[in-house]
Amino acid sequence: MSLPLPVVGAVQPVDGALVDRFGRRHTYLRVSVTDRCNYRCVYCMPKEGLDWLPRADLLSFEEIERIAAVFVRNGVTRIRLTGGEPTVRRGLPDLVKRLGALPGLTDLAMTTNGHAFAPMATRLADAGLRRINVSIDALDPSLFSELTRGGNVAKVLDAIAAARAAGIVPIKLNCVVLRGRNESEVASLVEAFAPHAADTVVRFIEYMPFDGNDARRHHVPVAEIRERLAQRFGLVPSDAPRHGGPAKLYTVPSTGQLVGFISPITEHFCEACNRLRLSADGHLRTCLSRDKMPSLREGLRAGWTDAELETALRGAVWNKVAGHEAHLVEGARAFEGVMTRVGG
Ligand code: 5AD
Ligand code: SF4
Repeated sequence: MSLPLPVVGAVQPVDGALVDRFGRRHTYLRVSVTDRCNYRCVYCMPKEGLDWLPRADLLSFEEIERIAAVFVRNGVTRIRLTGGEPTVRRGLPDLVKRLGALPGLTDLAMTTNGHAFAPMATRLADAGLRRINVSIDALDPSLFSELTRGGNVAKVLDAIAAARAAGIVPIKLNCVVLRGRNESEVASLVEAFAPHAADTVVRFIEYMPFDGNDARRHHVPVAEIRERLAQRFGLVPSDAPRHGGPAKLYTVPSTGQLVGFISPITEHFCEACNRLRLSADGHLRTCLSRDKMPSLREGLRAGWTDAELETALRGAVWNKVAGHEAHLVEGARAFEGVMTRVGG
């Protein structure tokens, strides 16, 4: 897939949808609510963790709500809460309630590792959380613990059941595939969730190179995973709605189960990108591949009006880059920064 080309003669609109020079409309905002995490997944963090942001640098719930409201007034219809791990942010249901009340928002979702989710599932559902994505890279307890450096897969399975019981469906499960580490878990994950085909989709994600991780050594192209699963389960391409998501969906004909493949590296989807990211400390990140972005927090704390906020974000979106070039050859640039600062 190629990167998009600028629209010839396009000028930045002063109102309407949040568009960039490439004509892409941005309707989806990912909000990182904390950079902290109770896991240390090998592909995401060093084992000693990271230098966490000082508390005062985090956006308050009031600030997140105010920024989100401006995005939603400018055409964002879907918000996803991410981290770090969003459930470690105290008072999370309160934030969900505030965002869920924004007029014009049609979807409020969260990405979680599931570790602390089960006990708060009902509270989050009552507050307005509609859907979750849960990371699950292995079913084997010791391998899961190794990949997450201490995680407990039983808690994650509890989280998935609790979400279902609370009506937070459909549920998307994310598995990052690492060469030589969890390739053997791929088929087991599909089989394990076949009984829940009605509301659960397992998705396999290519390992992305971020600063300091070993993606180049352990990367597996999704085509290879898809091929292996196709031999075993006979996948057929699905036309189930993707809701703007990057996963390519296939069906297992014998069970009707959906399986997804996300290929940020080998078949990137920059051309259709509709997403924006707000970091936990209030930076607007228009592309995963770029770290240096304006701080909306500094603007807010300097007294910006909503109109000034809107001008800042419209300008940043307009100047969004075409996409990433994170090739997997030695020496090529990785995505900038670390995932927990970025929000997945
Ligand atoms: N490559 C691919 N996916 C990643 N995630 C985190 N780091 C990486 C990476 N290097 C994804 C995982 C997890 C979510 C929080 O972010 O899928 O589910
Ligand atoms: Fe935590 Fe998610 Fe990173 Fe794992 S991938 S360390 S669960 S933020």
